[in-house]
Amino acid sequence: MTTVAESIDLKTEILRLKKERNAVILAHNYQIAEIQEIADYVGDSLGLSFIARDTSAEVIAFCGVHFMAETAKILNPHKTVVLPDRDAGCSLEESCPAPQLEAFLREHADKNYYVIAYINCSGGVKALCDVICTSGNAVKIVESAPEDRPILFVPDQNLGAWVMEQTGRRMELWQGACYVHVEFTRDSISKIKEEYPDAVVVAHPECTYAVRMLADEVCSTEKMVHFCKATDKKDIIIVTESGMLHRLKRECPDKNFIPGPTDKCSCADCRFMKMNTLQKLYDCLDKLSPQVEMPEDIRKRAEAPILRMLELSK
Ligand code: 13P
Ligand code: SF4
Repeated sequence: MTTVAESIDLKTEILRLKKERNAVILAHNYQIAEIQEIADYVGDSLGLSFIARDTSAEVIAFCGVHFMAETAKILNPHKTVVLPDRDAGCSLEESCPAPQLEAFLREHADKNYYVIAYINCSGGVKALCDVICTSGNAVKIVESAPEDRPILFVPDQNLGAWVMEQTGRRMELWQGACYVHVEFTRDSISKIKEEYPDAVVVAHPECTYAVRMLADEVCSTEKMVHFCKATDKKDIIIVTESGMLHRLKRECPDKNFIPGPTDKCSCADCRFMKMNTLQKLYDCLDKLSPQVEMPEDIRKRAEAPILRMLELSK
């Protein structure tokens, strides 16, 4: 446990190192409060991809999970991309190993699938896809898919199902899921709604159908910020990972945010997102390790569908 004095020292040292290294610190909305406070930019996967593409810094310190840092590296092959904890993975990424997807596509080569991959996947999976999407642009990306080819959507079945509802496009869905968002249930969200009858419910599209049905708004983490600023409701139930509450409280100090509970807990933490600490951020800037590396042929193949996504989301 870091004391307040130690944490102030650590912050000062991180800022000193950041300058020395010509680094930028990017943080996802699910990061712990201390990391969000020190970051140059806090956002969702889409916003972070744009910033990673456009930064002039020589070093990118990516506080999120591995696939996010890897996306930054794919877009910046000549930059050093470090992450505080190499083991910060993602259950969605795990659910779709590249060799399994490759075998599936080989077996069904006759279908000529247009493959859309949610950004929560490995570089190897991205390299097998036509286009990438995030929860912030998935509807737009699916709407732009060719009409004459069947769509395979990987790896999140819940986001995929939500996009089908929004667009009316049929897609085959890989059966992956986020272990955090499936913990919210119809019961747990119904109970909190009863406790706060005047509250609006905002849920991430990685939640199950039963939970999405109880929500007033379903959107990406960044769009949650816009929604919460715009609504005239004071009480807002947030059905996503707990780190989001810090970002929202900062952006909308006049609102009352209530964490969506699960059946077991009063809020939901992503164990991968929470692996990053200020100490590990300091260490990765100091040692320039762990770094994201990948074979150039895979990087190049993975870059094309990411650039297509960025182009389509302008
Ligand atoms: P966003 O793209 O909405 O930030 O979501 C990323 C994520 O990992 C959700 O679990
Ligand atoms: Fe992956 Fe879920 Fe964690 Fe997001 S919250 S990083 S989808 S495990």
